Amino acid sequence: MIRAYIKSIAYCVPDKIVTNDDLSKIMDTSDEWIISHTGIKKRHFIGENENNSDIAAKAAKIAMKKGGITADEIDFIIVCTGSADYLGFPATACLVQEKLGAKNAGAYDISAACTGFVFGVETAANFIKSGNYKNILVIGSEVLSRIIDMSDRNTAVLFGDGAGAALISGNEDSESKSEIISSYLRADGSGENALKRPLGGTAHPFIPGVTDPKECFIYMNGRQVYNFAVKAVTNTILQIMEKNNLTIDSIKYIIPHQANIRIIEAAANRASIPIEKFYINIENYANTSAATIPIALTEVVDKNLIQRGDNIITVGFGGGLTYGGNYIKW
Ligand code: ACO
Repeated sequence: MIRAYIKSIAYCVPDKIVTNDDLSKIMDTSDEWIISHTGIKKRHFIGENENNSDIAAKAAKIAMKKGGITADEIDFIIVCTGSADYLGFPATACLVQEKLGAKNAGAYDISAACTGFVFGVETAANFIKSGNYKNILVIGSEVLSRIIDMSDRNTAVLFGDGAGAALISGNEDSESKSEIISSYLRADGSGENALKRPLGGTAHPFIPGVTDPKECFIYMNGRQVYNFAVKAVTNTILQIMEKNNLTIDSIKYIIPHQANIRIIEAAANRASIPIEKFYINIENYANTSAATIPIALTEVVDKNLIQRGDNIITVGFGGGLTYGGNYIKW
């Protein structure tokens, strides 16, 4: 039996750091408000000459180097993003394929907002288990700085740019390693209006002189998303624990989507899980949507916080609405 495992993982954030104080110079906000309401201290914003596909490719190249594979050995590239280089097509994954020179790879994007990486990991794991693919790059990559309204303090302070890439490969040894054991994936389309980019799709196309260009930016009903998110995180963790006979003590780390520290704290409280089990790095990157989980997982691995055999759970939630998680035995 072929097992799907995370062979390597890496991330890339743009060089430019934007602090809360930087934002308070251009909008009516403060370091104190942002930290106390979100846990965010700073975020990275992409430079003028870079795009989503550039940071996605950079993260992928580091993951490939760590995993010891060449571009020719990649069979498939999945980019999970809500802030693609282009609306609709071409897929950002195709641009990454060209940047990597991965001439033997198929490529497409997954649109599941902040839960994208969780969906991508499960998709790749099943491609691998089919035996038809050997090495798949799953990349969560976002350039949210270009789709937020910098005059709206309700959303502008929450987001950052970044990319995280996992190389998912097949393991045919009898011994398990960083194996993707199972996932829990859900959607609730009744929450369509809680989090969206209202304009630019075919439902509401941009019509010059008629539509307000500001509606291309992220719209969020913060309270509605908060209430959904706390339930989604709790539900996902409990479902994965039950399905896989896991106890809280047997879980080493939960890697949650980093949208707001208060969501993580409320979910931990609701599920009676010690907050120390959750890896949190939102203070440094803010919400990078589909990139938060792979960035956090890379840090956990690079800091040697998990060892072979440790149980970890990822948990995401986002626009769609979508939510879910992966159970990985490291
Ligand atoms: N700086 C200063 N004041 C602000 C700011 C800001 N950046 N933003 C809002 N305020 C003000 C509001 O105007 C309001 O003022 P008022 O009482 O005079 O009207 C006050 O702060 C409180 O506003 P609330 O919206 O009630 O603030 P709340 O405590 O609910 O926090 C937040 C807002 C952080 C957005 C919260 O609702 C939340 O965490 N929502 C979850 C959504 C989220 O994290 N989304 C991330 C993206 S979605 C995703 O990743 C899936």
